Amino acid sequence: MNDHSHTPRTKPRYSATFDEYTLSEIRRAAATGIYDIRGAGAKRKVPHFDDLLFLGASMSRYPLEGYRERCGTDILLGTRFAKKPIALKIPVTIAGMSFGSLSANAKEALGRGASAMGTSTTTGDGGMTNEERGHSSMLVYQYLPSRYGMNPDDLKRADAIEIVIGQGAKPGGGGMLLGQKITERVASMRTLPVGIDQRSACRHPDWTGPDDLEIKIEELREITDWEKPIYVKVGAARPYYDTALAVKSGADVVVVDGMQGGTAATQEIFIEHVGIPTLAAVRQAVKALQDLGMHRKVQLIVSGGIRNGADVAKALALGADAVAIGTAALVALGDNDPHYQAEYEALGTSAGAYDDWHEGRDPAGITTQDPALMARLDPVAAGRRLANYLAVLTLEAQTIARACGKSHVHNLEPEDLVALTIEAAAMANVPLAGTSWIPGSNGNF
Ligand SMILES: Cc1cc2nc3c(=O)[nH]c(=O)nc-3n(C[C@H](O)[C@H](O)[C@H](O)COP(=O)(O)O)c2cc1C
Repeated sequence: MNDHSHTPRTKPRYSATFDEYTLSEIRRAAATGIYDIRGAGAKRKVPHFDDLLFLGASMSRYPLEGYRERCGTDILLGTRFAKKPIALKIPVTIAGMSFGSLSANAKEALGRGASAMGTSTTTGDGGMTNEERGHSSMLVYQYLPSRYGMNPDDLKRADAIEIVIGQGAKPGGGGMLLGQKITERVASMRTLPVGIDQRSACRHPDWTGPDDLEIKIEELREITDWEKPIYVKVGAARPYYDTALAVKSGADVVVVDGMQGGTAATQEIFIEHVGIPTLAAVRQAVKALQDLGMHRKVQLIVSGGIRNGADVAKALALGADAVAIGTAALVALGDNDPHYQAEYEALGTSAGAYDDWHEGRDPAGITTQDPALMARLDPVAAGRRLANYLAVLTLEAQTIARACGKSHVHNLEPEDLVALTIEAAAMANVPLAGTSWIPGSNGNF
């Protein structure tokens, strides 16, 4: 008979379910009784643009010559109703990130970088700063559930208006801004007391559904003389229906933000477990526009985890008109720079993993209101880095488009794509590589 009581294992076996991170979170919760808040987007792996590949041209398609043949990248946003649509030179825009979550220098740098490349930047849950308006050639003004920073004069100073219904990091939830980031200036712009933790509202008090939203959009058009495009931004949860309802409400542009999308501060459980991946959202939003006969008439901006020109090209091939970036833009400015590794370690983290953006102690001077830290970010140099990065994203997307034989990045189409996994094939409605099989509903919702 075997004696099991003293049989030592040769190796300890760790649980995939109760992995090291999960254990540390249980211990942290047990010690503090407080749930975790952090910035950035979903960190676990979910199906993404990496699961798609382009079919470059060869015999049956004819590629374009990189150095001689043109491949356009310009895009008009807001052609449905607005007298003055937004004309972007590149199909990449800067997503809304609030003053308060970001320093004034960071907002200025975003404006400088975007303007140098002929694209727009966006305000956020905290109003419009003069630094940002002054350095942004095209500025989209966010109209948010929290109403923080809402100022009718600023509405008029903007080039477009973005009504925020939700964000991909937290569809159905509101953001947070902890007291240490609510300085005199942030407080006065948001009409809040200094130094007290704030939670943004999760829904706007002025409307409960598409019928009221239609009235609100009409009101905003009247205030701005029907000049400015009106965007509606939703967090990806039910993008088919949300896109259809945004179109019904009168939106010129729909912005769909997937679950990988960054946030300044939200509950970790929300970031990782609510909403659907960007890849799954694009096709549904495009299908809604197609079913309504509005594809390309109401433009679609997609965001959430866009990192390189391949991501840009894939989003466009699936039917988006442009993409927006948040996290990647912050990294281009200098966020999580290994140069500050020792300081990140002192905060208990590491360059590349730092996400305690709500704490306001960012060594790179980006997600902070601390004057000494903020002064570390030179808005001119940071703006230049962002412009370089935007140029690379555009060149990479053009390179792919040319290889697929397209004279404009918007001519990329689902036919240029295949998927590496069954999941991605079903979500994006493109065939599994090496087959003609599109699993799932074939695009019907
Ligand atoms: C620091 C930070 C602040 C943000 N603030 C806002 C905001 O005020 N309003 C909003 O609609 N979205 C906000 N977002 C979300 C972005 O607009 C965008 O949806 C998201 O960052 C896109 O995903 P990405 O970060 O993977 O590029 C914020 C994101 C970050 C990283």
